[in-house]
Amino acid sequence: MAEEIIIKILILGDSNVGKTSLLLKYADNFFPDSHVATIGIDYKVKPYNYNGLEIKMQLWDTSGQERFRSVTHNFLKNAHGIVYVYDITNKKSFEGVKDWLKDSENNGSGREKKILIGNKIDLDRKREVSQETLEKFGNKKKIPTFEVSAKANINVNEAFDYLAKLITKDKTKEQIIAEFGEKENKINISRKKSNSKETKKKQCCGK
Ligand code: GTP
Repeated sequence: MAEEIIIKILILGDSNVGKTSLLLKYADNFFPDSHVATIGIDYKVKPYNYNGLEIKMQLWDTSGQERFRSVTHNFLKNAHGIVYVYDITNKKSFEGVKDWLKDSENNGSGREKKILIGNKIDLDRKREVSQETLEKFGNKKKIPTFEVSAKANINVNEAFDYLAKLITKDKTKEQIIAEFGEKENKINISRKKSNSKETKKKQCCGK
């Protein structure tokens, strides 16, 4: 059976910060006009070429709702990368990042690469979190930071591409295959439709 190279990236953040919008913008160059709450967890795949090697970035969109936290915890331990998202017009969502960080520290492998994204910079006039606050926090936690807009398509590709590079950085092709290679169809996906967003069962990141 052929081998696929899969990098698993989890997108975390409070409800309504724009996680689904960022995922759709990055993977499909599409911006949805309305908010449909993610139920449980959902994913998209984006190809990423690394020195001629075809890598699949599996981007997992989680629900920001408290009641789905335990679902998210199950996915954390096998994630290779984490994108923390908050909304620059909502200070509470920035405070929420601290909880998401704690969650991932407690439930992750400790080896994940991380970035922190402040979304919705097209709404600068409503800003509640300054860029300086973001940068200070990122420096303290040693996490690269980005301000982006899914809606206006500002800096979205740059942020996600940066994370992909961080995960593959300094690795030979052989190391990439050994670390991220999976037999094709190893992940048997069962899908359930819910509220127009698809819910995946706990197949993510499972070895
Ligand atoms: P949950 O699934 O509940 O966790 O929410 P989410 O974080 O996935 O948020 P979602 O992507 O559904 O976006 C929430 C709302 O913010 C929607 O109305 C989006 O249209 C809007 N939104 C997302 N990104 C941006 C942005 O960059 N700018 C503006 N102005 N609105 C945005």
